[in-house]
Amino acid sequence: MLNNVKLRVEDLRVWFPVRRGLIEFLQRKPQKFVKAVDGISFYIKKGEIFGLVGESGCGKTTTARALMRLIEPMGGKIFFYGEDGPIELTSLNKKQLKKFRTKIQMIFQDPYESLDPKQSVFDALSEPLKVNKLVKNSKELLERILSVLEDVRLYPPESFIDRYPHELSGGQRQRVVIASALVLNPEIILADEPVSMLDVSIRGEVLRILLELKEKRGLTYLFITHDLSLARVICDRIGVMYLGKIVETGSSEEVIKNPKHPYTKALVSVIPVPDPTIKREKIILKGEVPSPMDVPSGCRFHPRCPYFKEGVCNKEEPTLMEISKEHLVACHLWEDI
Ligand SMILES: Nc1ncnc2c1ncn2[C@@H]1O[C@H](COP(=O)(O)OP(=O)(O)OP(=O)(O)O)[C@@H](O)[C@H]1O
Ligand code: SF4
Ligand SMILES: [Mg+2]
Repeated sequence: MLNNVKLRVEDLRVWFPVRRGLIEFLQRKPQKFVKAVDGISFYIKKGEIFGLVGESGCGKTTTARALMRLIEPMGGKIFFYGEDGPIELTSLNKKQLKKFRTKIQMIFQDPYESLDPKQSVFDALSEPLKVNKLVKNSKELLERILSVLEDVRLYPPESFIDRYPHELSGGQRQRVVIASALVLNPEIILADEPVSMLDVSIRGEVLRILLELKEKRGLTYLFITHDLSLARVICDRIGVMYLGKIVETGSSEEVIKNPKHPYTKALVSVIPVPDPTIKREKIILKGEVPSPMDVPSGCRFHPRCPYFKEGVCNKEEPTLMEISKEHLVACHLWEDI
């Protein structure tokens, strides 16, 4: 076991049952599932930014929601490493979970949906503090709210507390969303595409705030993005997801410079290169991502893989193998490609 781990996920599975019609029910057709997350394992070290990357629908948000226990996983374990050793989150009962919830907070993708339009900034930030009984009196409540607003660079903080979401710009809203995740003093932040809905001109500022907060508060991040070039600059390590599985993981530098899985190779090949004199061959994948209700046999990437080998790739599912220090790949043929 590695030192300094803050969060560890072991074989996490989130399957959503598909509603059956009456006829299917009477015919006793087997229950079908959307296998949104289908057995993933990873760890995040303390103070690290771990990126989950992959195309739309590969299971990134579902993973984060399961870590928050907003969705019950179908299987697997989630370990949080606190001062007193590891706590297995899936074994906590409701009461224990409520106490624990403050330690992991999530920033959702859409700042317009994350804030209640009827709540002022003060109400939005005071509610979690009151619910969790974390402040003794109204003076302390106000101090804590003003301080967190300053942390997300909303100056002067007094001018923001009485505003409603429609009185804020997109960037300011997202900063209030970040403040509402921070106000409980969490140790881990799950940031789900935190800048993808923002105008390009303000993305950098919001990212800078997230990085600054990480240093200042010693936070650990799970950073979800479909943008590999962003993951390269922001994340220490990444996990590349395809159809509910992690197919490659390692330091972002290593995975992006030296991708081994054909899917990662394809993603990397389309990252824009700043120097126009450098030519890189783009790998365009054939077909669409299959439905997570009908996962292909063997390697789930095989119907789209340019290196597919009959009788090998469609037979057994490859598991993650360590090919160099902390660089893991799930492909039968990685050495030959
Ligand atoms: N509550 C649900 N019931 C049934 N299926 C679901 C549910 N939530 C998610 N899914 C399905 O699970 C799969 C993974 O969804 P998820 O939202 O985790 O993807 P994602 O990687 O976050 O995609 P995006 O980049 O578009 O946000 C998708 O096929 C989605 O339709
Ligand atoms: S196991 Fe086969 S199909 Fe899957 S990624 Fe590797 S080469 Fe492609
Ligand atoms: Mg998502």
